Amino acid sequence: MSRLQGKVAIVTGGAQGIGEGIASRLVQEGAKVAIADLNGEKAKSVADGLNRSGPNAIGISVDVANRAQVQAAIQETVKSFGRLDIFFNNAGFNRPLPFMEVDENNFNSIMRVNAWGVLVCTQEAAKQMMAQGEGGKIINTASIAGRQGYAEFAPYCASKASVISLTQAAAREFAKHKITVNAFAPGVVVTPLWDGLEQDMIEKGVIKQKGEFIESFSSSILLGFPSTPKDIAGIAAFLASADSNWAGYHGGRGHGPGMTVYVHGGSLKRRPRTHRYPRNGAFSPRRLASTRAAGRRRDPDDASLCPDLVSLQRRPPKCSF
Ligand SMILES: NC(=O)c1ccc[n+]([C@@H]2O[C@H](COP(=O)([O-])OP(=O)(O)OC[C@H]3O[C@@H](n4cnc5c(N)ncnc54)[C@H](O)[C@@H]3O)[C@@H](O)[C@H]2O)c1
Repeated sequence: MSRLQGKVAIVTGGAQGIGEGIASRLVQEGAKVAIADLNGEKAKSVADGLNRSGPNAIGISVDVANRAQVQAAIQETVKSFGRLDIFFNNAGFNRPLPFMEVDENNFNSIMRVNAWGVLVCTQEAAKQMMAQGEGGKIINTASIAGRQGYAEFAPYCASKASVISLTQAAAREFAKHKITVNAFAPGVVVTPLWDGLEQDMIEKGVIKQKGEFIESFSSSILLGFPSTPKDIAGIAAFLASADSNWAGYHGGRGHGPGMTVYVHGGSLKRRPRTHRYPRNGAFSPRRLASTRAAGRRRDPDDASLCPDLVSLQRRPPKCSF
């Protein structure tokens, strides 16, 4: 596969989780990749791994909500690889709180990175692509939480709805420059994000132990198990390639550029059982232990992604294809 041969990409939040999976897939498809992350050390270490097969990647320390740092990251990428063709707005985080406890700081800190960061990076990436004059691809990581509200994730949901709207607005703005802007919206992806999120929920007394929250969300996935970054990286690579040039949306609100592809294994079909928290406690320790064991049997390699949650990565699917 070399449909991204000669292309240069930046993946924000590429030091772990979904971003790391995307960076690795882009390199497999022939692209040179700059991994831009708040954690510069980890970004460099992921780049080192990708450089085992040649000079494919660099790691850069950046806060996506800081314009000067974003500009410097783009300059460093262009200096290293000559140009910029693909920009993944993937960095993001969540700090869940029960709805009534959300305060200004919680709301603003999430919106700053997940929404403002996407706007800043889109503007700066587009400037570089317009200067090159050959178009480009901007791809945003949204979430199913951008279209479905979750009581404990209110600011995160608002931020991801913003990502979907920013995608559509930017797509309209930049089409004349042959820069396409699309998004993909994962459902549950087993990454370290869930680890921190569940720790927060344990501290708030919403859940009792690691695994409960992701288990609750995963119970509504029709495929029967949550995805890993590898599972969704193919969609991301498609959006980065010329294969997606004619992508657009068509739905109840009309049609236009700026598509959001949902990648959730059918998980919007049923309502996640988060409303059972905190009092009822959803899952017995026995059940969690058995799903962990099943996960380890099926996919031991993926333990590196998020050791505490690996059990949930590969429950036997209920359907086959
Ligand atoms: N994991 C899921 O189930 C899931 C589902 C839907 C959407 N998403 C979205 O996918 C994206 C990646 O999530 P993940 O699960 O891989 O998370 P993760 O926590 O594993 O990785 C996120 C990365 O982003 C980096 N980051 C955070 N703030 C940053 C900033 N200000 N500037 C630069 N880098 C920053 C972190 O250092 C980290 O390396 C996020 O936007 C997240 O909201 C995740």
